[in-house]
Amino acid sequence: MDIIIWEWAEFMLRWLHVIAGMAWIGSSFYFMHLDANLRPTKDLPADKGGEAWEVHGGGFYCSRKYLTAPEVMPDHLTWHKWQSYTTWLSGFCLLMVAYYASAELFLIDPEVADITVQSAWMIGIGGLALGWIIYNILCKSPLGHNETALAVVGFAFVIAVTFAFQQFFSGRGALLHAGAFMATIMSGNVFFIIIPNQRKVVASLIAGEKPDPKYGKEAKQRSTHNNYLTLPVVFLMLSNHYPLSFSTPYAYLVVACVLVSGALIRHWFNIHHAGKGNPVWMWVVAVLAIFVAIAISTSTTPVGQEMMGQRQQEEKTHDVAALSEEASDIVMSRCSMCHMDEPAWDGIVLAPKGVKLDNEDRIKRMAEAIYKQAAITTAMPPNNLTEITPEERDVLKRWYQNL
Ligand code: HEC
Repeated sequence: MDIIIWEWAEFMLRWLHVIAGMAWIGSSFYFMHLDANLRPTKDLPADKGGEAWEVHGGGFYCSRKYLTAPEVMPDHLTWHKWQSYTTWLSGFCLLMVAYYASAELFLIDPEVADITVQSAWMIGIGGLALGWIIYNILCKSPLGHNETALAVVGFAFVIAVTFAFQQFFSGRGALLHAGAFMATIMSGNVFFIIIPNQRKVVASLIAGEKPDPKYGKEAKQRSTHNNYLTLPVVFLMLSNHYPLSFSTPYAYLVVACVLVSGALIRHWFNIHHAGKGNPVWMWVVAVLAIFVAIAISTSTTPVGQEMMGQRQQEEKTHDVAALSEEASDIVMSRCSMCHMDEPAWDGIVLAPKGVKLDNEDRIKRMAEAIYKQAAITTAMPPNNLTEITPEERDVLKRWYQNL
């Protein structure tokens, strides 16, 4: 019963998290786009704001941005903050339910670090909090006045944090925490900087004073950071579905590539929407960065090493029937206790992801998935709970390649 409630709780949280994330990222993209499309008008010259006309859903919209005070404060002002808070809160709960509640399954890999569940929680939550604190100090330090220097240091910092997570967590847990760390920076920016600064500006406008421009400037800086982080964060949140992305000890370099790629793609859109051209080289570099990520991800897996000629393809001739029987035995002994109609593994009530591997037919049908999850990567069994050996993985690999 408990497990059914947990399963549904996880699903509902994930639903909420994705919806809130769409609303947040959608509004972030919308406002960057709107900013890029503002044009000066008679009563609003370029240095005072601008106006943008849009057509959507059968009507025309005219949005104006006031960089300084509008003539009168409107009675009704919409704030954009709950999308961000809801995304972070639901994401944090999801992290608890999906990772911290089953830390042995997804977070702790004894081959990486044999830590207790409590230490895993402390490292995870502590890492997220400390990450935000250091980022905030960097932004407020003299470095914060130099956007380029801050971007370079910020980039190195994110990679260092990912590397640190990799020293404690499974590959999958490390990349997810790297994403959660960036997402915490984004929500922290909204909660601690952008919204409070906007409140100060509004308060001084209501008091009839001229607001200090430093508040708006700081809010814009953080909002821009958020904009460039969105694409890499979404990549990292999805990475757990793709074991090749997290199975390498160099996953922190995969993160570096994705940061470059995601930020450049955002940058291209920002430039393009502002009518400042079409710098195609950004797409070229973004795609190249992904190819580098692919090369890094495969360089440490047997199949990648073969591709790159670092390993000789084994010349053994195999008896296909014997290989197939051997592979079946391995899957039955290392996988089926979780992957069956009524799993025998404590805490698992339904075959995970509907993947059933408890007879020869089913195993054969899932050959490609088995190859991806257990032969060319070590994603399954989770944290090698059933202690499959490298030789057995090799058999699974040869079996699939000879099918
Ligand atoms: C301790 C239980 C357990 C064992 C043993 C186990 N798995 Fe899994 N498997 C899981 C869980 C839990 C998931 C769901 C992972 C997730 O939520 O991302 C899963 C997911 C999968 C998936 C689907 C992946 C996806 O995202 O589409 C495949 C394929 C798979 N396992 C294959 C295997 C193979 C092959 C083995 C044996 C070498 C194995 N599993 C052993 C628990 C187990």
